[in-house]
Amino acid sequence: MAEDPVCGMEVDENQTKHSIQHRGKMYYFCASRCKDSFEKNPERYLKVLKMEHGDERKVAIVGTGQVGSTFAFALMISGLATSIVLIDQARALAEGHVMDLNHSLSFVQPSNIYVGDYPDCKDASMVVVTAGASQKPGETRLDLVRRNTDIFKKVIPQIVEHNPRMLVIVSNPVDVLTYVALKLSEYPMNRVIGSGTVLDTARFRSLLSRHCQVDPRNVHAYIIGEHGDSEVPVWSQVNIGAVAFREYCPVCQRDCPQDERDEIFNQVKNAAYEIIKRKGATNFAIGLSLVRIAESILRDENSILTVSTLLDSYYDISDVCLSIPVILNRDGVSKTLKIVLDKSEIASLQASAKVLKDVIKSLGV
Ligand SMILES: NC(=O)c1ccc[n+]([C@@H]2O[C@H](COP(=O)([O-])OP(=O)(O)OC[C@H]3O[C@@H](n4cnc5c(N)ncnc54)[C@H](O)[C@@H]3O)[C@@H](O)[C@H]2O)c1
Repeated sequence: MAEDPVCGMEVDENQTKHSIQHRGKMYYFCASRCKDSFEKNPERYLKVLKMEHGDERKVAIVGTGQVGSTFAFALMISGLATSIVLIDQARALAEGHVMDLNHSLSFVQPSNIYVGDYPDCKDASMVVVTAGASQKPGETRLDLVRRNTDIFKKVIPQIVEHNPRMLVIVSNPVDVLTYVALKLSEYPMNRVIGSGTVLDTARFRSLLSRHCQVDPRNVHAYIIGEHGDSEVPVWSQVNIGAVAFREYCPVCQRDCPQDERDEIFNQVKNAAYEIIKRKGATNFAIGLSLVRIAESILRDENSILTVSTLLDSYYDISDVCLSIPVILNRDGVSKTLKIVLDKSEIASLQASAKVLKDVIKSLGV
């Protein structure tokens, strides 16, 4: 087995059709996309392979509004990061958050929390990007796309100039912006992820847990596809503990007709609209979703999470970022998992991909 120098995935030298000789050495690739990236700039990827990270647990947060600041607070409490740097064009806002967070340090594990600028992304294990406009009441995530793409065109090149290990995109529409960030950064595909449907999956588990009256940690269920209106609940794979969802009804002895399932999913899908209508923004559950992603990356956990990632021939879907279950560790996405879907779920996932591809096409990136 060889290591693809672009994405870091294992490649069987005898099976892959993609290889190049560079300076007398053979390099093998998992897909033509990685080979093309390598051909354009081999030294860049050889440098990434050799990159040393002095501070393994430095997290940079670009955009310190509702989401960025709540993530910073939750991350500080978690004790996962040794350094947290806050970057925002509204520097006074970032400064205020840093003062407030530092005043909490006698209650938590020590960490170095400071206001920074783009050069502070150097040596970061991950840069979490929450900069940008957020939804106004009634606005969809896709309505934000042009405004936030323009912001990304300014922000992403300034971040990658300092070569942090990984980008985690949160700004909406998160799947489209993950794709935009991947293009702008020219990073390997495994090192640019979106928070995707980690939040929606948590919402789904929370509602199912209430319905089934069981601890949410024992609900195994996934939302895949777009983080948005075309997202897909994978009902066929829902498990309560070790019991398949359809077998669970006799256990909780509550009827669970189709319209009740539809209601659960609608609450998941419309959660952001309902919360924004009431309090103007969502911040707590996304803050903890980001801590969970950070945990898997910083502690090299190989956790299975539904982050947004570039797909290549996944149920015939390619060249679009959306969420499916992946294994996530300090190098980013190490494997994508082919979740078994029924026919209607496959059709819904493909429809979700089409929605996102159409938006990407309209942007011309
Ligand atoms: N992916 C998810 O699950 C999820 C969940 C909630 C919110 N979001 C998205 O996250 C983003 C942030 O939401 P919010 O509620 O924190 O918004 P917010 O308006 O409170 O904060 C945005 C911050 O970005 C900063 N900013 C804007 N342009 C910048 C630039 N060029 N450089 C640096 N900083 C810049 C602003 O100064 C502001 O502090 C939105 O796009 C929102 O839709 C995503």
